[in-house]
This record gives sequence, C-alpha cells and structure tokens, in this order.
Amino acid sequence: MYELNINKQTYQIEADADTPLLWVLRDILGLTDTKFGCGAGLCGACTVHIDGMAQRACLTPISEVTDAEILTLAGILETETGKKLQQAWNDLDVVQCGYCQPGQIMSAAALLEETGKPSDQDISNSMAGNICRCGTYDRIRQAIHHAAS
Ligand code: FES
Repeated sequence: MYELNINKQTYQIEADADTPLLWVLRDILGLTDTKFGCGAGLCGACTVHIDGMAQRACLTPISEVTDAEILTLAGILETETGKKLQQAWNDLDVVQCGYCQPGQIMSAAALLEETGKPSDQDISNSMAGNICRCGTYDRIRQAIHHAAS
C-alpha cells in the first residue's frame, strides 16, 4: 500500500513498488489530464511536477514519490503560474490537436517558477524534451513569453 499526495489530495494505492506513476494516475485513479505518449521517457506527454520539478510520470516508480508533492495539469492550473499559462495558451491559440499540451504546460510552469523571465535559450533548453507532432513550438514559445510578461 502506497500513500500518494496528488494535487493536494491523499490517495491510498494498492500496486507494486515499480508501478509507474503514469499508470497509477490514469488507470487506477482515472486522472487522465496526464497523457500517455511513448511510455519510455522520450516525448514529455506525461510530464508532472514532483516537488516542483518537471518529471516523466512514465519513468517514475510510485515507491519513489510517496513523500513527494505531485501536481498534474489540474493541480498546476490552480496556481498563479498555471492560470497565467492557461490564459497565454488561450490568447495565442497555441493548441492544434492538443494531446501534448498538458505536458508542455507542465514543463513551461516549471520553467516559469524557476526563471521569472526566461530567454529564448531558457525556453529551448527547458522545453526540448516535450515533443509536439503538430509543430506548435513557435506558439508555445510566444505563449511562455506572454505568460512571463
Ligand atoms: Fe512519458 Fe512519453 S509517455 S515521456
């Protein structure tokens, strides 16, 4: 039995120690705001915050996060940073198909919380692990600048 703190709620989880957090979020708890893309740490769709750091939920065994504060997109959108990003995403009409965008916003939120006014290079560095097959990268970059302004 593992106890997880997700979006400021406590959940008791019956699962093996090496069960990836992504499986727990989506398949056990039904919290589908975190997306499954590759399942191998390559696409960034499953990005969540673990103690404020952007991490891949598909590569994170639940036994490693029992004492951590976990935030998914739903949790980050309750924060000041998340609200600014959501507004910027809407203002700049960032989304095309939308599938990767929860992960994009989670990485952008970690960046803004670390660096109030990121440079283009900061954005490139922080967002490099988040793949968008629709190619919304330019709008994502503009939206991050917009949210930081
Ligand atoms: Fe985790 Fe792709 S699903 S990085």
